[in-house]
Amino acid sequence: MHADKLRALFIEFFKTRGHKEIPSASLIPENDPTVLFTTAGMHPLVPYLMGYQKHPMGKRLVNCQKCIRTQDIDEVGDESHTTFFEMLGNWSLGDYFKEEAIDMSWEFLTGGKWLGLDKNRIAVSVFKGDKDAPFDGDSKKIWLSRGLKENRIVALPKDKNWWGPAGAAGPCGPDTEMFFYVGEHVLPPEDSNPETDEKNWLEIWNDVFMEYNKTGDGSFVPLSQKNVDTGLGLERVACILQGKKDIYKIELFSPIIAKIEELSLKSYDDTRYVKSFRVIADHIRAAVFILGDNRAIVPSNVDQGYVLRRYIRRIIRHGRLLGIENKFCSFLAETVINVMKDPWRELENNRLFILSELAAEEDRFGKTINQGLKEFEKMMNGYEKAYQATGKKVGHIPGKHAFRLYDTYGFPFEMTEELAKERGLEVDAAGFRKCYEEHQEKSRLGAEKKFKSGLEDSSEKVVRLHTVTHLLHKALRIVLGDHVQQRGSNITAERLRFDFSHSDKMTEDELKKAEDIVNEAIKKSYDIKCEEMTPEQAKKSGAIGLFDDKYGDTVTVYSIGDFSKEICTGPHVKNTSELGRFKILKEQSSSSGIRRIRAVIEDS
Ligand code: ALA
Repeated sequence: MHADKLRALFIEFFKTRGHKEIPSASLIPENDPTVLFTTAGMHPLVPYLMGYQKHPMGKRLVNCQKCIRTQDIDEVGDESHTTFFEMLGNWSLGDYFKEEAIDMSWEFLTGGKWLGLDKNRIAVSVFKGDKDAPFDGDSKKIWLSRGLKENRIVALPKDKNWWGPAGAAGPCGPDTEMFFYVGEHVLPPEDSNPETDEKNWLEIWNDVFMEYNKTGDGSFVPLSQKNVDTGLGLERVACILQGKKDIYKIELFSPIIAKIEELSLKSYDDTRYVKSFRVIADHIRAAVFILGDNRAIVPSNVDQGYVLRRYIRRIIRHGRLLGIENKFCSFLAETVINVMKDPWRELENNRLFILSELAAEEDRFGKTINQGLKEFEKMMNGYEKAYQATGKKVGHIPGKHAFRLYDTYGFPFEMTEELAKERGLEVDAAGFRKCYEEHQEKSRLGAEKKFKSGLEDSSEKVVRLHTVTHLLHKALRIVLGDHVQQRGSNITAERLRFDFSHSDKMTEDELKKAEDIVNEAIKKSYDIKCEEMTPEQAKKSGAIGLFDDKYGDTVTVYSIGDFSKEICTGPHVKNTSELGRFKILKEQSSSSGIRRIRAVIEDS
């Protein structure tokens, strides 16, 4: 079964069980400043899982979400880890709970009409219990009553069997994870399970019972509603359905692998090279999807742009390891787009942008990488000489050397770390950071802090700023013209940041006009209304949206009085009178053809 079929089957299965399909959210989270990328399908659903708002599409949802988990980057190279992947998920927002969720998972995995997997090769885990939440005996009972054997059910502690929150705080809960046996036997030995024999059990699906809110002080408080959040790894399940042991052998990857073989004249089956093949294949998918998301992110030294830069530069370095000296990223990107463009139309729509940004970054790094690698060798020789002279081994690459590689040759810190590790060395990260901070005002480390900052008690402010963003979007179209389209949005409790297509710097006068228009709209106390319709109806009704992108059968349209109408998943305030006074702080360039506004609302 191909991944395309699996995607469709999953959606169909849950639709027949009363779920509405929602589109994949952007890879760049809009309303959560605590993470750089969408890591799971539940991300955009946080306000609904918290019970703050009713989701306009109801209590049962399903989708396929594009995800990036950079924390798995060191795992890439084995047979099953990727940083970019597609997650199939179903949700109950305060509707069904454990029994129905497990039943549906079981039916989809093993039912003859659906995946028909061998029940004897499935094992599950449940939450063991601790001071924050009890042992999940309910889930265990449900699994036993469905015929799963006691020896295939393991109880594991929080670090393994609890999911969320996605950022620093928010909805989370115990989970039950499903594993498929991928060991050498036809049937797993009696005593084999994901705890005793971890490497032979591939995790394929996770049902999370989100009934807790982790608060800013680290405690777990019951939510007002009990939710279910699930995530099934599309590539992994396609892999087992196709009887393969290696995820990179499924049809989503094999054309990319074939292209790398063609460009490098090396074989994927050669164990000396397999890791580089996998790194390149995973990273090129991630890079293409980031660039193609909304044309909002380009390689840079901060935030998502920095991650993108790391991906591309690592691809180039691993390309060199395979002997590819010429520019090659665009060829691979073409392959990725061709393979993925049906479900992910934004890739086709943004094809030229993706290819040209990749080529530009490759030009930049191509000029310095070879010299940088030489410089690295020189450093290694220097350490060796020092060792011979003093008898003391150099265990760390000094921070200032790593910084030289970064500053002069464009080596992301993590690349130097990787090179060092291959020689059994570490890098003095603190020393690097010190050099970096001395040289830069805004550092990437600021971006890392983001992961830790938390969103506690800020949801209400974020919701207000989100509604103001719609007003601003419309105001900009009135002042500058209809070519203005949203290219990115990032909201914290303090401010909104809105990226939009427009080529010139806005004048003082234009900024003042836009600000006034928003404030007038706020004063008019417009009600915010939410309706469901087909994408065609939405377009006809004049709603703003990127109609060339993928939408589901129905979309949600939010109207703010007769002032603004936009496709969006919410949440929003009920009336603009809740918003306060709007103020633009700054307007600047974001990237070529894209401007960026930072703005706040002040209580009036
Ligand atoms: N959010 C859960 C996960 O990512 C389903 O595993």
